[in-house]
Formats: sequence, structure tokens, C-alpha cells
Amino acid sequence: MSEIIRIFDTTLRDGEQAPGVSLTPEQKLEIAIQLDRLGVDVIEAGFPVASEGERRAFKLIKEAGLKAEICALARADQRDVDAAISVEPDSIHVFYSTSDIHLKSVLGVSREEALERIIKYITYVKDHGFICEFSPMDATRTDLEFLKQVCRAAEEAGADRLNVPDTVGVMTPKRMYDLIMELRRVVRIPISVHCHNDFGLAVANTLAGIEAGAVQAHVTVNGIGERAGNAALEEVVMALNLLYGKKTNIDTRQIYATSQLVRRLTGVQLQPHKPIVGDNAFAHESGIHVRGVVVDPCAFEPFSPELVGRVRKIVAGKHAGKHGIKTILEESGLRPTENQLDEIVKRVKELGDKGKTVTDTDVLAIARSVIEAPIEGMKAVNLEELVVVTGTGVIPTSSVKLNVLGKEYVSAETGVGPVDASLKAIQRVIQNLARISLREFRIEAVTGGSDAIAEVIVKIEDETGNLVSARGAREDIVMASVEAMINAINKLLARRSIH
Ligand code: KIV
Ligand code: ZN
Repeated sequence: MSEIIRIFDTTLRDGEQAPGVSLTPEQKLEIAIQLDRLGVDVIEAGFPVASEGERRAFKLIKEAGLKAEICALARADQRDVDAAISVEPDSIHVFYSTSDIHLKSVLGVSREEALERIIKYITYVKDHGFICEFSPMDATRTDLEFLKQVCRAAEEAGADRLNVPDTVGVMTPKRMYDLIMELRRVVRIPISVHCHNDFGLAVANTLAGIEAGAVQAHVTVNGIGERAGNAALEEVVMALNLLYGKKTNIDTRQIYATSQLVRRLTGVQLQPHKPIVGDNAFAHESGIHVRGVVVDPCAFEPFSPELVGRVRKIVAGKHAGKHGIKTILEESGLRPTENQLDEIVKRVKELGDKGKTVTDTDVLAIARSVIEAPIEGMKAVNLEELVVVTGTGVIPTSSVKLNVLGKEYVSAETGVGPVDASLKAIQRVIQNLARISLREFRIEAVTGGSDAIAEVIVKIEDETGNLVSARGAREDIVMASVEAMINAINKLLARRSIH
């Protein structure tokens, strides 16, 4: 059994057959260059008979002088094979259906005719001096005796490799293992496997085929492909390396960059929990997990994210716990006191309980407003109640109840909007303590969406020229503005009492 498993990448051919995907020749070239950097052994760059664009893309890739073998796909058909030859590939992947259902319903030819064609076009490709890989399409639903007859004939006609497609993804790992074992008794040329993911078993079936002695895997980046897709390159390669002890020529640190490029150019998004390359594949939110990975990453990770070109992500959220939030803050240079950290964690959990996805940016906004707020107990002014009325046909009004130095005060004001009215109401309550003017007011919706955390920054000045700024961060813009204003007033009063 060969030590190095060859990776035959068909992202640009089977991957491009995914519904809705269509790449320009330039985009195909960009992906091919990255696949070459990744270290795939073969790039199936297209199906030249399909269109002029396919042929142009193929030529661009061929002329790029990549290390990988550049392969063209062709049915066992004169036009197809001639089109493949015309783009001067390194190899030609000839395929022809062998299952009765395909022969009858799709092609309308007999087994004998199919066999004849297969022999004819493999011979033709070899006579023209190309490496030839042959695929009996729908092999896994082909009568076993006929399949063996076809494989034997393909080898005799000169095929260099035999690829076994599970075209509609109906194999199980055990059946794939047995089939490859059986075919190894029939041919001596290297065997490859090509698995589709209709039952979510493409990777498992690919690995089973390799366990049985296949030495090449057909894969696509991110597993894109027809219907439910193909075996995902990143999953097959990492499982081979780390679970099966088999090597490939892949530079695994290029995996994430390749995945991101394919995601961007094809527009096919990934489920967040997609293994290896999904957004959550190395993200930790739960308190216990975060504590574990911070102390020893192996505790909750099968391997280090750097191995596939990624970094670990500690995600905020109601499960995050103190450790996780502290780590996020420290990574951004924020060092809250224990009390501040408790307050930040409390606020993050409150948001999570309201069903909001709390992003790192939200946590940082909350943390900044908590850290910069005057220390509890030194606050002269505290908000007790806020009621705003706004809408069409009413004048925006705000009434606030503030506790100022232990005494309650209530005030109501109108304004151009609820924020304006609220800030005026606050200013009126504290006018006996300080006559302040608003010098600057900025709202930064720091995350997208209407339920984003809004970060408000205010700068105020008193009658003697003291200038302070402060911030507030809440998912309600009015509350964030009020928080920023009260924080600023408290800072200002604290400064005046010191001087
Ligand atoms: O799935 C399939 O059978 C194919 C062939 C062209 C090999 O993609
Ligand atoms: Zn396929």
C-alpha cells in the first residue's frame, strides 16, 4: 500500500457543477494557482467539450506552469476526447456509464457497446500520448461482474489509473471497502475513489476505499459539487494525516486560505459547523471549554487550528463565562478589575438570554463603557427610571428619574427625538450641580442588524471649561446615549470634587 495518497482535486470540474456555481476563466486560474500552492497532485481543470470558456480557462491554467498534473475530462466520445486533446492537458479523465440504469435510461446503449467505446477511447487517448484515468460512471450501482469486465478491459486498453465513482453517493464505508478490495484483485493499475455526499458519507466512503488500498482520492474544496457535493478535500486530508497515519502532498497550512478563496469566488457559503473550515470549527464559547482550551488547547480541540492555517476563536455569548470574556478582552489589551469583569459578564449574559448573538465587538464595546465608567460608589448621579414616548403625531418626550447624591429627582423634556429629549431631561436635573453643554455626540452601531449593540460617545463641557468624554454601550440607542451622558456627568463631577 502506497504511503503517499494522491489528491485529485475536482473543484474546478465537479465542484463547478454545484447548482448556481459558475466561474470565469480568470477565477478558475486564481483557484488553480492556490490549489497548486496547497499541493494537490492533480487539478481536474474542466470539461473542454462543454464550452469555449472551459477551453480558455483550461489553457490559462495549463500555461501557468503549475506543478500539479492538469487533467481534462472527456466522455468516451469522439468530440469530447478531441476537445480534451485540443487543450493539451497532462492527462485525460475518460468516463462512461456502466450501470444498467444509466446505459438504458441515459445513453440507450447496450453493455457491449459501452465496453467497445470504453476500449476505443482509452486506446485513442493513449495513442495520442496522454496519461489516461478511466472512470466507469455509476460504478457502485453497476453489476459487479460487468464492472470487473470493464475494469479489466480498461487496464488492457492502456488506462493508467482506475477511478471508482460512487456517482449518486449510495455506498457505505463497508461496501466501499469490499468493492475496492474486489477490484484490486482484478486490476494492477492504481485505484482511485470518487465519492458523492448524498447520505453524508462521502468522506467516510473515501477513507474506507483508501483503507482497502485505493491510492488516490477525488475531492473538492469545501466539499462543493453536484447535489449534496463531493468528499471534502480538507476533511479527507486531515483525517488521512491525523486519524489514518497516511501522508499526502498537501501543505495543510494552506487549507483555510484555499477554502476561503473557493467560498468567495463560488459564492457557496459554508455551514458554521463545517469541519476544519467552518466558522465555528475552532471557536469556543462554553465556559468549561474555554477554561480548558486556555489552559491546554488539547483538552477540547483534536488538533491545533494553526495546522490548517487558522486561529482559535474564543466567542462571547451567554455560555462564555468569565475566563472566555477575560481572554477576549486581554487579546484587545483591556484589563478590567474583578468588579468590572463581573459587570461585563453580567451584561453579556443578559444579552445572550434575550436571544442576541453576542459578538466579540459587542463585548469590547460593553467592556469599554464599563471600564471607563466612574467607579461604583463614587457615582454622584444614577439612573433610576427612563420613559420615552416617540412616534408619528407625538412630540418625542422623555422623563427621567435620577438619584443625585442620594436624593431622587424627576424631569421631563421634549426634543427632536427620544435621544435629544432624554439628554435634555438629564441636563435639566443636574443643572444645579453643573451647567453642562454637549460638545460631541457620536453613535457607532458596532455590529450589523437592528438589534446591534450601539456604542455612543459623548463629550461634555461645564461652565468652567472642564471637558470630559465617556461612552455607553447598549442594544438600545436611547439607553446607550443616556448611559454615556450619565457616565460623562459622573466623571465631570468627580474631577470637580478632586480639584
Ligand atoms: O460522479 C461521477 O460519476 C463523476 C464522473 C465524471 C467521474 O463525476
Ligand atoms: Zn462526480
